[in-house]
Amino acid sequence: MALRNILKEGDPRLRKTSRAVTEFNDRLWTLLDDMYETMISDGVGIAAPQVGVLRRAVVIDIGDGSGKHELINPKIISSEGEQCGHEGCLSVPGEYGIVYRPQKVTVQAQDRFGKPFELTAEDFFAVACCHELDHLDGVLFIDKAERMLTPEELEKLGEE
Ligand code: NI
Repeated sequence: MALRNILKEGDPRLRKTSRAVTEFNDRLWTLLDDMYETMISDGVGIAAPQVGVLRRAVVIDIGDGSGKHELINPKIISSEGEQCGHEGCLSVPGEYGIVYRPQKVTVQAQDRFGKPFELTAEDFFAVACCHELDHLDGVLFIDKAERMLTPEELEKLGEE
């Protein structure tokens, strides 16, 4: 495994629509392993375009004990309710915003071997799914944020 460079806001690759994964091979597995290693010290999710690979793959681990979730070619097939919280992103370091998201989403995806599955995510896990899937369509949380947190709010957040 290796750490990959995370693209930062302003890089045009973060604004592209990623293409479907069609080959479930070594190259994909290395990418997924690298994405996990790159993300885990500092984040709860990462999408392939954030490491410059414009393919529809995300890795999520929100640290709730449910472990690592790899979603290849994911699609939200239903969503319910609404929640509102603060979000950040490895590609937008140091900034957080208030974003509205569904309370619950059901995602259809493939695993690293191409096998289809469905996953229902609630609360913060649902937020992470929505945030990471947006990356695959070139959307960042700052596009959807109701407003960004103020320096005072950021300071409070840092103390938590
Ligand atoms: Ni992000």
